[in-house]
Order: sequence, then C-alpha cells, then structure tokens
Amino acid sequence: MASSTLICDTEQWKDLKAHVDDIKKTHLRELMSDTQRCNSMMVEFDGILLDYSRQCATLETMDKLFKLAEAAGLKGKINRMFNGERINSTENRCVLHVALRAPRDAVINCDGKNTVPDVWQVLDKIREFSERVRSGSWVGATGKPLKDVVAIGIGGSFLGPLFVHTALQTDPEASEFARGRQLRFLANVDPIDVARNITGLNPETTLVVVVSKTFTTAETMLNARTIREWISSALGPEAVAKHMVAVSTNLTLVEQFGIDPNNAFAFWDWVGGRYSVCSAVGVLPLSLQYGFSVVEKYRLSYFLVSFGKTDAVDTRFLQGASSIDKHFYSAPFDKNIPVLLGLLSIWNVSFLGHPARAILPYSQALEKLAPHIQQACYHLFASFVSMESNGKGVSIDGVPLPYESGEIDFGEPGTNGQHSFYQLIHQGRVVPCDFIGVVKSQQPVYLKGEVVSNHDELMSNFFAQPDALAYGKTPQQLQHENVPHHLIPHKTFPGNRPSLSLLLPSLSAYNIGQLLAMYEHRIAVEGFIWGINSFDQWGVELGKSLASQVRKQLHASRKKGEPVEGFNFSTTTMMKRYLEGSAD
Ligand code: F6P
Repeated sequence: MASSTLICDTEQWKDLKAHVDDIKKTHLRELMSDTQRCNSMMVEFDGILLDYSRQCATLETMDKLFKLAEAAGLKGKINRMFNGERINSTENRCVLHVALRAPRDAVINCDGKNTVPDVWQVLDKIREFSERVRSGSWVGATGKPLKDVVAIGIGGSFLGPLFVHTALQTDPEASEFARGRQLRFLANVDPIDVARNITGLNPETTLVVVVSKTFTTAETMLNARTIREWISSALGPEAVAKHMVAVSTNLTLVEQFGIDPNNAFAFWDWVGGRYSVCSAVGVLPLSLQYGFSVVEKYRLSYFLVSFGKTDAVDTRFLQGASSIDKHFYSAPFDKNIPVLLGLLSIWNVSFLGHPARAILPYSQALEKLAPHIQQACYHLFASFVSMESNGKGVSIDGVPLPYESGEIDFGEPGTNGQHSFYQLIHQGRVVPCDFIGVVKSQQPVYLKGEVVSNHDELMSNFFAQPDALAYGKTPQQLQHENVPHHLIPHKTFPGNRPSLSLLLPSLSAYNIGQLLAMYEHRIAVEGFIWGINSFDQWGVELGKSLASQVRKQLHASRKKGEPVEGFNFSTTTMMKRYLEGSAD
C-alpha cells in the first residue's frame, strides 16, 4: 500500500466492511458453541493466556484482519520502529522507548549514534544516587536521611510510574525493599493535590523529584515552585540542593530553575512522554522507593523485543523481561498477543462501531492500569497510552480520516466496577471489555468457615462476567423462571457483547512489565493499521494556549483591575463570577 493511501481504500478494508453483516446475524451464543473455534481463539505465551473467543468474530474474520494487517504493512512498520527510523514524522523523531530497556551491549542507533551507552550512563547514575539516598549516605540539609519521595509530574511523567508503583506496593518481594519509605505523586495543579501530598511529610526527610520532559509544563512547574517554597521556607534556600532533583530532556531549564545539574537525570526526545516509564521518569522514583535492583529487573523484564538478547538475562525478572517484547517482534500474527489485541480493537472500533473499551482488571493492584492506558489513547493504558496516541483526526500524511481512530478507554478493578457502570455494559451500550485476571493473588486471604477464599470470590466474578455479557438472558428463560410478565423486559439481557480475557499467572514485577508492554504494543499496532501517528499529541496544545490567555487575564484583572475582555459572552460571564467570588 502506498504511504498516502488510506487503509479504508484497500480491498482488505472493504472486504471486512462487507463481512460485518454476516457477523451481525450470528449471536455469540452460537459462536461459543463451536468448540473448535473457541480453541483456536486461545493463545498462550509465557504464562499468559489470552482468550478472545467472546469476540463477535469468526476464524474467517480473523483471516480477513490478518490480511488487513498485511495491507497496512504492519510488520514493516514494527521493524521501522525498532530500527530507529523517524516514524514520528510530525516531530521528526525516532520512537525508541525500546532502547531504554536494551542491555548494555545492544546497538540501537538514532542518527548514526548508538543510544544505549547514554541510556546506561543515566541508569548507572540512578543506581548510584538511589543507593546513596536509601542507605542514608545522601542526607537532607539537617543531616537526616531522606525516606519520603514526592514525584512532581503530569501525564506521561506521572501515570506510568504511578501505575507501576501501585501494582508493586502489594507485591511481597518489592514491598520488602520499600519498608519505612513512602512514594507520593503530585500531578494536579489543584492546591488540594498539593495539600494532600505534603500532609504528614517533613521537609527535612523528603526528597522531591521534578519530572518533566520539557520542563515547561505549566502544572508541573507551578507545583515545583510551590514545593521549592515549602522546602526553603522550612530549611532555607540552600536546602533545595539536597532536597530537589530533576528528570528532564531540558537540562538547561533544570539548571535555571535552581536544581544542580549534577542532580538531574536526562532522557531524550526519542522517548515519548507516555512511553517514558522505563526512562529516569519511572526508574528514578521507583528505584528510590524499591531499590534499583527491583526496578532494573522490572525495567528489563519490559524490554528485549527486537534484540533477541534473552541469553543476557540472568535473573527470573530478566527471563520474563524479554517475554512480550520478543514475542511481539517475532511471533506470527495469529499467535502474537499484542497484534491480536490490536486487530480486535480495530475490528470493534472501525467495523462493528463500538467506540469505547473497558479495561477491567480483577486485581486491586492494577487500579491505575486504566488511567495509564487512557493516556496512551486520550492522553489515557489507552491512555497514557491509548487515547493520547490514537485519538487522531488525520492520517500520518495529514489527510483527514474518513473513519474514527482511537477508543474511549475507561475502567475500574472488578468487582468494584460491577457495582457501578456494569449496568450500562450489560443492558445499555455495547462496550468491548478486557477482563484481566491473576491466578495467584499477591495477598491471598483465607477465612475459616468461608466456602471460598477472597481471591476465589474475586475470580468467580472474573469468570462469570464475560459469559453474562456474551450469552445474556432471554425472555423465554425468564418465563421458565416464572418472572412476572411486566418485569421480563427489565430482566432481559441481550447478550452478544464482546469481551476478551487475559489470565496472568501472578502479579510480580515480571508480570507487570509484561502487561505494560502488551498494552503499549497493542496501541502501536492500532495506530499502524489506522495509518496515524501514534507518537505525537498535537491535540493537547489548543487547550493549553487558551488557558495561558485566561491566566494572563485573571492576573491583569486581579492585580491591576483590568476588565475581562477578548472572550466570548459565556466565558466572560463565568470568569467575572469567579473573580468576584474569589476576591480577597
Ligand atoms: O499534555 C500532554 C503532555 O505533553 C504529555 O504528552 C506529557 O506526558 C505531559 O504533557 C507532561 O509533559 P512534560 O513531561 O513535558 O512535563
């Protein structure tokens, strides 16, 4: 396919469009009765079981999707990413987050320069610094060890690290390393978030990490100034050198802010913000909390796709490390979990017309997965990764898309979600669901006298919900149950609602890395098929620049009494009310 050809103009796309009517005629109840089909829709890799038999799809559908992938040049696009080509064309950048996970001896070039030694220079610096802080050889201005860390950052400089931290903190092994330490994340410019994050902290024992790729993000910089003030008013301005460090690509601005460049941890423009969790953005705060070795194992478990370096892996984390990346790079598409996930998303969004996706982990430790993924799609795990990556209106060549791209990602751990929005997904809108279950709980609880353990109870729901969505409940079934006639319409479940299930063996650092990589690669697959640039985010700029005009006006009105002007009637009225009501 020529690069300027839209995917919707290909025969393969049209063929899938024509196929939709066949699928719509068949209820999932019938599809699920075909055991051979179901068996073919289960893929296992390195302990992870993907079951996509509850998708409204047949083996013929899958065949057509693989042909679509071929038409989109999916394999070539994956290779171009790993080979360091400038596939983020609107920013003229390579997309090399995989280099962040590469072993020391790997060679991954950007503009003819190997990126890997630079990556490892920063990693070595993180190892040394985090060990000094954790051992108490780096102390605060009053000589006390720094046991608490506040990471200030937003979007990609926040959601990924928060997701990993939230998942690791109940892992028995990782949590051992975090004893007596706290890691907090300050993201929102809302003063409430500032108050929440410094409540109970002592500046004498707190280390602040300012995380910003650009070091210009309004929210992060204001929060950084506020927290700098919190430190210097308590300990004196010279204390900043001991209590504040930074992670950024813009080391000049870090220095201008007043942070010693020796205490700055670099990364590079070829790391997208939402794909930066394996850079110092995630590795520094997580190393401070859990120790570098835990994070390094995590970090490496996340890599190795393209480089086939599994022989370099010498711990169980590293053995797991290469799993998804290597699998994504090398497995045939019909056995390739991220590719299958991506193609099924395309099928649901672009052909069956389901714009949303629910991410439903049956593990409280994964409560920050959906917020992270959202980014990847809005700026959201479609997220962090999904929604910011794939919520685009034009092709990579700037041609307006005649089809929708990106999904609306949302989610909540089960069973909590069952008691809130599941009503909608059972009887209201059709929302394809990702169910994520874990075989072994991080924190199993067995109560004497209970029929099942807490984890069995949780997993009973994990197994039940996909069938409830797929099969539904018919009026005839309700009649047999003697349900009063007037209640039958209310108690009927249409079923035929697609989902897929991912079963992980446990939720160790290894598995968390696998999960992250699976979603990252899925999002890339979707973007590659839709023919968009999943690695830029121009859509976030307009709101930022309008906020800057409002900010100037608020300042001019408050400080100099200038009238509110230059805004429409609605905004002017609201701003005036705000200024009047919040005047000193
Ligand atoms: O607003 C979008 C965004 O640019 C994200 O892509 C990024 O992760 C986030 O803001 C934070 O940016 P920075 O790390 O430069 O502060």
